[in-house]
Amino acid sequence: MKMKTMMAAFGVLFSVHALADVTNAEKLVYKYTNIAHSANPAFKAPSITDGKIFFNRKFKTPSGKEAACASCHTNNPANVGKNIVTNKEIPPLAPRVNTKRFTDLDKVEEEFTKHCNDILGADCAASEKANFIAYLLTETKPSN
Ligand code: HEC
Repeated sequence: MKMKTMMAAFGVLFSVHALADVTNAEKLVYKYTNIAHSANPAFKAPSITDGKIFFNRKFKTPSGKEAACASCHTNNPANVGKNIVTNKEIPPLAPRVNTKRFTDLDKVEEEFTKHCNDILGADCAASEKANFIAYLLTETKPSN
């Protein structure tokens, strides 16, 4: 898909709730989509469905336990989460609910690398990051 078509597709996808400033989160989706597309031309656009599956999928962690992103961030990224290790509250990940999310690009890279390594035992692929943030952008209603 041409870059222009891709941008248009995102425009439609993300123009629905333009209330909170989620520009950086959207930029990250473009960025990771471009990286994923260069690595695998078949990856043309982020998948919200795949992002949701990824968020809830249980992985066997390097320490032998089962955990999903949802284990700490709850099954709704708009919710306040709870760290299963420290019991501390985690502000919502969904950028439309928590506008501080995805504002600092270096922090995002750092957290992704750390969490992906903790959970998957390796960094997440660019396609997984694109899908993940695209999914987070769709969650707007806390349920806890
Ligand atoms: C053991 C608990 C735990 C698990 C499991 C977990 N996280 Fe997190 N996550 C945290 C904590 C703690 C923070 C940092 C505190 C904060 O930013 O509120 C955080 C923050 C983040 C951020 C930072 C967003 C930003 O810019 O502020 C991202 C991205 C993230 N997590 C992605 C993931 C992904 C992807 C997974 C699954 C592969 C995952 N997390 C699994 C606890 C967890």
